[in-house]
Amino acid sequence: MTIRHMLAGLAFCALSFSATAQYNTLWIPDTISGPTFNLSMKDTFVQFFTGNQTITAGINGAFWGPTLIFRKGDTVHMNVHNNLNDSTTLHWHGMHLPAVMDGGPHQVIPPGTVWQPYWLVTNNAATYWYHPHLHKMTQAQMTAGLGGFIIVRDLEEAALALPRTYGKDDIPLMLTSRRFDALNAFDDVASYGDNMLTNGVLNAEVSLPKQYVRLRILNGEMERGYNLGFSDNRTFYVIGNDGGLLDAPVPVTRVPLLVGERVELLVDLGGDAVGSSIDLKAYNAGMPFGFPGSEPSSTGTFGSLLNNVNFNVLHINVAVPTVGAITSLPATLVSNTYWTAADAALTRTLTVTDGAPGPGSVPFNFDHTLFDLATINKTVTLNNIEEWTVTNNNVFGHSFHIHDVEFKIVSRSSGAVGPYEQGWKDTYYLPVNESVSFVAKFTDYSDETHPFMYHCHITPHEDGGMMGQFVVSSSTTVPTQQVSTDYFVFPNPAKDRIYITCADPTMQVYYISIINSIGRTMYMLPRPQLSKGIDVSNFAPGTYFIRLTDDKSKKVIVKQFIKD
Ligand code: C2O
Ligand code: CU
Ligand code: CU
Repeated sequence: MTIRHMLAGLAFCALSFSATAQYNTLWIPDTISGPTFNLSMKDTFVQFFTGNQTITAGINGAFWGPTLIFRKGDTVHMNVHNNLNDSTTLHWHGMHLPAVMDGGPHQVIPPGTVWQPYWLVTNNAATYWYHPHLHKMTQAQMTAGLGGFIIVRDLEEAALALPRTYGKDDIPLMLTSRRFDALNAFDDVASYGDNMLTNGVLNAEVSLPKQYVRLRILNGEMERGYNLGFSDNRTFYVIGNDGGLLDAPVPVTRVPLLVGERVELLVDLGGDAVGSSIDLKAYNAGMPFGFPGSEPSSTGTFGSLLNNVNFNVLHINVAVPTVGAITSLPATLVSNTYWTAADAALTRTLTVTDGAPGPGSVPFNFDHTLFDLATINKTVTLNNIEEWTVTNNNVFGHSFHIHDVEFKIVSRSSGAVGPYEQGWKDTYYLPVNESVSFVAKFTDYSDETHPFMYHCHITPHEDGGMMGQFVVSSSTTVPTQQVSTDYFVFPNPAKDRIYITCADPTMQVYYISIINSIGRTMYMLPRPQLSKGIDVSNFAPGTYFIRLTDDKSKKVIVKQFIKD
């Protein structure tokens, strides 16, 4: 579509000097509201340019996925269908949930399988996201287009006079870039793309009403950071970080946003004339070395046409205001109680190591330890408040992220914690020659076996091994006497639902998988609610196996049942 549009635009230009035809309309992902969410991950294609289509992957669509709307306090149930040709995982970035539901590298979803995690939403109203997290495959699967937004709503946010009409005055923006080869295929090992994609659209434009507009921006890149601002350098307001609203709007003219970070902005278009336009831009020219995307080269492994230049992210055309427009800035938002360094019962350090280019070099990692799926790097005590200090006296900048928690950044060794990062965070910029400390509390979900991740969110770094894992351990001692892990399946044969009872009523089920007679996994049910039974009504008649993992012993028992 673009080449044709561009040609049409050029011809139009020559006659009228209008450049508007070169833009493509911003795509706004559909929303799904729960409490049950059906997601289908599949390989597909997009016509980005004339000629060859680009092979992509999408969730319920061709690139990216639907925006999931969660209400705080609801229990959400996911049916994640992997219709890709490869295994994958799906991680709920920023969500506080049991490790077994987290969708990290351990919760592998084989092709043709349904994974059914569920959890109680306790996160604050904010913008989160979901994406694949299969070890060494995250970059390739995210490059293909897999991912989506999560918007959590809560009563505190709902009580504020903020724009919240999705797609009208409340706009999700996923920023990324891609490098295309001569056949229009994505380069899925490139750190940096040459073409900006905003919600998957090249040269995106949108009409926004003449009033306060809310932008929920996600850096969904592989590596590049964005130093965001508007083309007239106007002041705009940060109202929320990764994990919730701030105490009050913070005026800024630039916001750096690293891979995995989100920011919610309010921008006032009330003074703009209807029919005028303004650009949201990345002011990446002249960013200091170590800011991802500041490298000067325009080609090669760490080069890109978008490196170290200012470029457009979104062309905004100002349109007539909506009914019920928000026309003033709230003076205050929510009242947060943040932890301080003094609250921390324990201090940990992580140091960025290796990664220096050159022959035989070891990829970036923490503490000279490359990620290993079988190694637990840290054990955190349930309900502890901890201060983590990550030090980067290394060769380049990074984007640090930790699962399970939202934290408060308490210090940066360079001096100031940015005014735009004063709220709840789960991801932050770790520049070169800097130490950053944050404080987090690890509540609710202990699991001695299944870990959460911490890692650099730059996908080539993460896939290369710049990741570690921690378990949250509850100090309550596990009873030593062995419980019986046997269980019964009924009715057998089954028609619609099968039920499971355990010989020992204290037994807890950690995981159930249902496998058909040719060994294909049909369902993966983390901590299933056994009293509700398991729906097998859509199974073909035949023999199936139920693989049950006991929570305490992690012992696996297999039973057979017949579907009528
Ligand atoms: Cu956005 Cu470990 O992930
Ligand atoms: Cu995450
Ligand atoms: Cu990194």
